[in-house]
Amino acid sequence: MIVPPDLARTIVDPSAYADGRIEDVFTRLRREVPLGQVQAEGYAPFWAVTRHADIMEVERRSEDFSSGELPVTLASQKATAQAAASTMPMPRTLVSMDGAEHRAFRQLTQGWFVPQNLRKLEARIRDLARGSVDRMAALGGECDFAREISLFYPLRVIMEILGVPEVDEPRMLKLTQELFGGEDKDLNRSGGDVDPAAAAEGIRDAVMEFVGYFSSMVEDRRKTPREDLGSVVANGVINGQPIGFPEIVGYYLIIATAGHDTTSNTTTTGLWALAERPDLLAQLKADPTLIPAHVDESIRWASSVQHFMRSATADVELAGQSIRKGDWLMLCYTSGNRDEAVFENPFDYDIRRPSKHVAFGYGPHVCLGQHLARMEMRIFWEELLPRLESLELAGKLVRTSATFVGGPRHLPVRYRIT
Ligand code: HEM
Repeated sequence: MIVPPDLARTIVDPSAYADGRIEDVFTRLRREVPLGQVQAEGYAPFWAVTRHADIMEVERRSEDFSSGELPVTLASQKATAQAAASTMPMPRTLVSMDGAEHRAFRQLTQGWFVPQNLRKLEARIRDLARGSVDRMAALGGECDFAREISLFYPLRVIMEILGVPEVDEPRMLKLTQELFGGEDKDLNRSGGDVDPAAAAEGIRDAVMEFVGYFSSMVEDRRKTPREDLGSVVANGVINGQPIGFPEIVGYYLIIATAGHDTTSNTTTTGLWALAERPDLLAQLKADPTLIPAHVDESIRWASSVQHFMRSATADVELAGQSIRKGDWLMLCYTSGNRDEAVFENPFDYDIRRPSKHVAFGYGPHVCLGQHLARMEMRIFWEELLPRLESLELAGKLVRTSATFVGGPRHLPVRYRIT
């Protein structure tokens, strides 16, 4: 089945993720063409997997659907060709590894991200959360929550875990935004409108700047290991061999980038829900045991990672359709998290629903930082809610134009805080 051309164009259009048009497209596709081929100018054809059950099936069948063969995020044909022609050595990351290699690399840091280990970080994370609430109070009752508060808290958490000093955070933040916001005219390196190929070039430049920064950090942690995740990775050994430089830098890159924008976007979404729904705010203030449910619903609602791509390793069947070896597939998490077959009234923000979302993915690549993300947000709400006396929107929520990682870029709010 082929996705109608106007819908296909919308799926590859970053601005459709900012203005919400994408939601209507996915709703129609789930109903009419749940697994359809997208043929959009400038892009190699790919299948849009829009139903929750099919997304989970692709993730589960990781031998049939590889992460390592084709780009794992949507890229135009021009961008893919430029990347292939480039002589710059690009770092390799967990998200683009398969099978035993992926398992071995993931194993290196898995222990850091399990709840038992994270509990050791709870007191320090609470200090950082309290600092963010103090900052909100100091702003005098009005702020752009996305730009002034939520951008910084998960950033500090993940940089401390990795071992990046606070003075370098502005640079990390800028680079991550260029990496994920390459398609957004306000966030990319040129600071203006860009076509997909120029966006990809900006993204590559950001990656190379990350590589430059992390190279010296790897040297340092090899010479003098510390108690941070950066040291664990820099001195990682797989099958008796020290891991290679591109893989170490790739690991730093994925932890540094995946670990904050996603969580900031989700925290902002959670605050937006409270500003829109005074009854929900009152309910959470009265009963803090509901906070984890609010966290999980904000994760579903935000679906900050909007897609990942896979490619078929053989001719296979999926949802009654024949997929050919080498076909490219887009796992549309945003769509899966609004699937009417799984979520009643999926467009309602409802903390009573069971947590069944696919916002963290599923299967062998399921988000490595999911427990950390949940814990950071729980602690933030635990610190904010008892001090928050009132909250309302003071302007319009503006979302990032991006097909990959997206979410609120501005959220002006007015509040009373003690
Ligand atoms: C609300 C916040 C977050 C969301 C929505 C999110 C979402 C995702 C998704 C959808 C994937 C791909 C899963 C798949 O392919 O099945 C992923 C992978 C990953 N995430 Fe997160 N993430 C979040 C926070 C974090 C944090 C805080 C970290 C901290 C280190 C992190 C680190 C990673 C890593 C390393 C991977 C790659 C895992 C692999 O390929 O094995 N994420 N995340």
